[in-house]
Amino acid sequence: MERLCVRGGRPLLGSVQIQGAKNSVLPILAATLLNAGVSVIHNCPALSDVDAAIAILRHLGCAVTRTGTTITVDAATVSRTDIPDPLMREMRSSVIFLGAILARCGEAKLSYPGGCELGPRPIDLHLDALRAMGVEVEERGGTLHCRGIVTGRVHSLSIPSVGATENIMLAACGGKGTTVICNAAREPEIVDLQQFLRSLGAEITGAGSSTVVIRGGKPLHDGEHTVISDRIVGATYLSACAACGGEVELLGVDPRWLLPITETFRKGGCQVTGEGNRVTLRCTEPLRSVPPIRTAPYPGFPTDAQPMVMAAFCKSRGVTLFVETIFENRYRQAAELARLGAEIRVEGRVAIVEGKKLLHGAAVEAADLRGGAALVVGALAAEGESVVTGLRHIDRGYASLVEDLGQLGASINR
Ligand code: EPZ
Repeated sequence: MERLCVRGGRPLLGSVQIQGAKNSVLPILAATLLNAGVSVIHNCPALSDVDAAIAILRHLGCAVTRTGTTITVDAATVSRTDIPDPLMREMRSSVIFLGAILARCGEAKLSYPGGCELGPRPIDLHLDALRAMGVEVEERGGTLHCRGIVTGRVHSLSIPSVGATENIMLAACGGKGTTVICNAAREPEIVDLQQFLRSLGAEITGAGSSTVVIRGGKPLHDGEHTVISDRIVGATYLSACAACGGEVELLGVDPRWLLPITETFRKGGCQVTGEGNRVTLRCTEPLRSVPPIRTAPYPGFPTDAQPMVMAAFCKSRGVTLFVETIFENRYRQAAELARLGAEIRVEGRVAIVEGKKLLHGAAVEAADLRGGAALVVGALAAEGESVVTGLRHIDRGYASLVEDLGQLGASINR
């Protein structure tokens, strides 16, 4: 079984170019279905989730080629409207293809996306919105049958769901009339999706705010787009620096995307500077505890960064509280971090981290993507040798973790 061997306990130093954003490239690849022509997407990270999205596009009849980090999708002929179960199971976020297939074909068939390691991943907000917009949604034996073209309307989301916002945007592009999404998710990846759709000729405004307006039915043409950088990968490397000490510069990320994380580490005693598209974090003394960290929809503290930031505070002075408000089961890293000597008490949505002066190397296993990244941060902070397994989880979201951390001076091998 593949594993990472980490020799921890040493500071990090250097600059690293951040990969393209996983949670941007996935909806954008789905959106290429809206253009019955060629779409060129640059800065696509080499991830297993991207491989899964390409497999779905090919299954639907698209010709997809990848050269380096550029993916070219020719969606001239879409010959199917279903996503088979194995492909749905491979990547839960495949549900994002629902809106795109509907927009292009007027019908879609896909199996219920399985839950994932983070707990149940309901899609009721997606389906309620599509029904309200005139789509017939039927569930027969675990398979969803959707049919109809979206008719524009004002739709308010009860939760600013990222996936539901994206699905409505995509379905509305291929629908009739104007759709207004109220209480839309505001993540930078939603703005990136809007930029790509605009490159195809779509008329969309408001992404990044709570109200997104889509004028459906516009004829779309070929487009080209460069995906933004992955703020969660950036948060991973900042957490590693805060845990190990040293100085790390991230290249290609907008400092505003990382504000909740950099503010947290600044309160913990680090120095942070951010201008243009780079962020630098310097950590010359052990982290000290900070006020409770509560995850929230953007622009709040991102749930995806919670595991790695928790790992950093395992080696700190004092007690730090985490409140995970987005997912039910997102503290799976706690038990494995404890093997490195961390002291974490989980009470439902709350985790209490008692910072330790030192952590020690151990064998640990990843159970989900960001939990796995947290174990790497913990192993880098621990004295001595650690081994990390469960790399298939980490490969879903990190294109060059070993190379990037090696560039920052870490002793890590696969
Ligand atoms: C996206 O997932 C991301 N995935 C997640 O990243 C991220 O954690 C999440 O947004 C929150 O930021 C992608 O973009 C591919 P949501 P998504 O819909 O769209 C509940 C990673 O590792 N909800 O915003 O599934 C849901 O249960 C992944 O990169 C409903 O109740 O997240 C959750 O509690 C992990 N009904 C909350 O809303 C619905 O119909 C937020 O979910 C939809 C969601």
